[in-house]
Amino acid sequence: MRLLFVASEIAPWVKTGGLGDVAGALPAALARLGIDVRILVPRYPALRSLQATGRFLERFASLGGAMAAAELYEASLAPNLCVWLLDCPDYYDRPGNPYLGPEGRDWLDNHLRFGLLSRLAARLASPASPLAWRPDVLFANDWQAALAPYYLRFYEPAGSAKSVLAIHNLAFQGVFPPQYLDELGLFARDWHIDGVEYYGQISFLKAGIRHADKLVTVSPTYAREIATEAGGMGLGGLLAARAADLVGIVNGIDTEIWNPARDVYLDTPYDLERLADKRRNTEALRAEYGLASRADVPLVGVVSRLTHQKGHDLVAQIGEDIVELPAQLIVLGTGEAAIEVAFRALALRHPANVGVTIGYDERLAHRIEAGADFFLMPSRFEPCGLNQLYSQAYGTPPIVTAVGGLADTVVDATPENIAAGLATGFVCPEASPTAILAALTRAVRLWREEPEGYRQLQRVGMSRDYGWDAPARRYLALFRALLGESPWMS
Ligand code: ADP
Ligand code: GLC
Repeated sequence: MRLLFVASEIAPWVKTGGLGDVAGALPAALARLGIDVRILVPRYPALRSLQATGRFLERFASLGGAMAAAELYEASLAPNLCVWLLDCPDYYDRPGNPYLGPEGRDWLDNHLRFGLLSRLAARLASPASPLAWRPDVLFANDWQAALAPYYLRFYEPAGSAKSVLAIHNLAFQGVFPPQYLDELGLFARDWHIDGVEYYGQISFLKAGIRHADKLVTVSPTYAREIATEAGGMGLGGLLAARAADLVGIVNGIDTEIWNPARDVYLDTPYDLERLADKRRNTEALRAEYGLASRADVPLVGVVSRLTHQKGHDLVAQIGEDIVELPAQLIVLGTGEAAIEVAFRALALRHPANVGVTIGYDERLAHRIEAGADFFLMPSRFEPCGLNQLYSQAYGTPPIVTAVGGLADTVVDATPENIAAGLATGFVCPEASPTAILAALTRAVRLWREEPEGYRQLQRVGMSRDYGWDAPARRYLALFRALLGESPWMS
């Protein structure tokens, strides 16, 4: 089986969030199962050195609309696994992150930049491709690749690949003004509510949801949530209509990179047998932030985009209460200015108990996962979430809301769940300041008054398998069903 995996970011080279992690690990896991995988990504500056190790494949004239010409390069990563770098310097050879310029604003030509990614993906998946290697399945990730199923359907001849659209976050839909229809080569006949039109704008994601053969999202609960009016962000009706083709598969984690026994960023790696060594990571983290060393006070960690989705406006509101619990807090993240300001102010008021880094820092992210006693992630919605998985693998019980992938992957520390050896963290029923504080209070109490119960949470979390092998097998089964090779069993 051949698979073309199309994404706008790929760890470790280019990552703004979980999509980068997934693109860096899922294709490799699929390749290990014997699928022949090509990952198509734009050739950003960070991928220049990878390009230098590869070879030129093909030059493509404009494939329609206002889209630029481009070249394709191939670099091999592993057996069965190559990256295809879409080289168009005008579009991708820019500073900043994949979506924003250095001053933090969306690039004005994002519709063309990711329109081209989608358009080229469709051509490569079609009998009209100039390349000998053609996929059986085109796997498009998020809005940046979501026009690919549309182009495949309307521009490419019969005999093209089947398409799967993976939705990592319905909040990002790739919405652009209607005057770009022509530039993108979208047909005027599709300019209506059952086409690509979304509240007067073009929606890349909507086009993909409508035209992909199968839809995947990154947890079963999120799959249910988005097929409703309340959770569908304007696309609930369409997703409900396609519910039979919508599957939820929880992400894995890259256990080479996120493994406390081998983590290159830790001074003192540890595992289940050496769990006591985790404490040294806590002390190192406190020292790095200049926090008071207090053996009787737990340390709560946060690594996150600081946005409404992640609920950290609510955490900032209860900052004083967290210190009063008492607990210490370390926050790493960037995002909405008001949340950044609130956390900075909290740290200034409580320098011995609150540490805040506004920024993006891979090393610190690992050290917080390892050093914290609890990881706080009170999202308003969460398609999958990776940090609660990292936390559990690191023996750092997560405190989460009961939404999406968080609900699917964290088992609440009720007395029954603890007694049954199932609990791994704390699940609060809603994203509100009082509910979050109540969950934190429960967590701190367990940590202080029932250390054996707390250690059990750590042990159960650390014993579970979060690797990509099992999710990759689910994907393989989905692709087989899509190709008519075997029935799909959900
Ligand atoms: P999302 O993709 O919605 O942001 P996920 O939990 O799926 O949420 O993935 C977030 C990823 O980004 C994790 O790997 C996390 O460690 C990383 N991350 C988020 N913010 C930062 C930051 N400020 N510094 C380093 N890593 C971060
Ligand atoms: C998105 C979601 C996150 C998910 C990630 C990878 O960024 O917000 O919940 O884990 O994609 O699928």
